[in-house]
Amino acid sequence: MTELKEAHLLGFVQHGVNSHATGMWRNKTDKVGYHFSRPDYWQHMARTMERGLFDAMFIADELAPYTTHEGSSDATVKYAVQCPTHEPSTIVPIIAAATKHLGIGVTLSTMFVHPYPMSRLLSSLDHLSEGRLAWNIVSSYSKSEWEAYGYEDMMPREERYDRMEEYVDVCYQLWDSWDPDAVIANKESGVYADPSKVKLVDHNGKYFKCRGRHFCEPSPQGRPVLWQAGSSGRGRDFAAKHAEAIFAVHPSVERMREYTTDLNERIVHEFRRPSGSVKFIYGIQTVVAETRSEAQDKYERIKACIPLEGALAWMSGHFGLDFSKMDLDAHVQNLEVPGIQGLFDSVIYAKDPLGKIPVTVKEAALIYAQGMGMPVLVGTAEDIADQMELFMDEGGADGFMLAATYTPGCFEEFVDLVVPELQRRKRYRTAYKGKTLRENLLSGTVSR
Ligand SMILES: Cc1cc2nc3c(=O)[nH]c(=O)nc-3n(C[C@H](O)[C@H](O)[C@H](O)COP(=O)(O)O)c2cc1C
Repeated sequence: MTELKEAHLLGFVQHGVNSHATGMWRNKTDKVGYHFSRPDYWQHMARTMERGLFDAMFIADELAPYTTHEGSSDATVKYAVQCPTHEPSTIVPIIAAATKHLGIGVTLSTMFVHPYPMSRLLSSLDHLSEGRLAWNIVSSYSKSEWEAYGYEDMMPREERYDRMEEYVDVCYQLWDSWDPDAVIANKESGVYADPSKVKLVDHNGKYFKCRGRHFCEPSPQGRPVLWQAGSSGRGRDFAAKHAEAIFAVHPSVERMREYTTDLNERIVHEFRRPSGSVKFIYGIQTVVAETRSEAQDKYERIKACIPLEGALAWMSGHFGLDFSKMDLDAHVQNLEVPGIQGLFDSVIYAKDPLGKIPVTVKEAALIYAQGMGMPVLVGTAEDIADQMELFMDEGGADGFMLAATYTPGCFEEFVDLVVPELQRRKRYRTAYKGKTLRENLLSGTVSR
């Protein structure tokens, strides 16, 4: 009997007109009959993901339009490069009310908010979703975010991680400060909660001071499920220490395997956490149809939506380098970038797992603009399931974040075509097993 992993699935989107595929808003199948800023769009998308038994919707975010390209946000605004993007936590209750099981992972930056209101917001959302909340912990990698919040310079990466360590420590103290039996709610005696079971948090650290009791009673999950996607050395350590699910983008199965091995080493040996207690979720983009040629046609229509200048603006924004200053035919050098280091790898290794085949600036922009350098799986449900099985068995993936192309159609097609195929192969659940997101996400192998 072989132990097989069942895939976990997340739908990767943004609360904006466009998610992670540049120019997709102009695809003729995008948001037909919907507007991204309205509840019915989110409710429909959430119900579709729940129909497909996804673990969660994953809502990415940044705090301001990118300004790296030509030192301006003009191209970002002009081509809808992750812009406009509305505030992500506002849609959590809307999604929660439309679903019963689907988790909701929300990206919220630690950088410009004190941990006290952050932990309160997250506890409140975990209550309102009845234990289905995850927090993607980020620290604002883009200079535009810092400028929008009134800073001239970004904090260096190392210090951002030092600060984030202390940040989550304060959140932990607050979330853990109410004993599970602190609430008595005895109407006769009039005692709602036992103060001896609600600790006063008194934190006096390098970056934060906090003296007070957590303002929320314990939420169904106690703490939201913690997600992280840092992939520099410090980012990997942070993820290995704190995350319950780790996200990464790697263009090939070899790079996935390398990342899984490195992170597992850190999780088990450096941070002494049980092997298998953290889920590895890799980004993929899928274009599925009944036939290969139909899928290929759809893919060509997707690629035709990408404006080169918008692609350059997006890549410049994510990596913090102005690619407009470089010759389009110059080769992209493998260097340390101020922005998202982990995603830069997906450009460098886009054509070859060893990074030996150089990638030009133009190629890099067009690859990146499709979906951040994720593997794009184009074909029938069987073709796509074959690749997903390979990534699980050879790459160490526990699951996938499916980057949106046109919405909600790409998720409807995946749910209708690929989910049954994965179930037929016993690589996907046929019902939700847990009540909370943590229970669903941390479950996962079957015997065959
Ligand atoms: C798949 C993936 C998704 C990410 N999504 C976001 C996001 O929505 N918002 C954000 O501010 N950072 C996001 N990031 C950036 C990281 O979480 C992290 O802050 C950034 O990568 C800088 O850390 P690093 O240099 O250690 O990678 C993402 C990174 C990856 C790999």
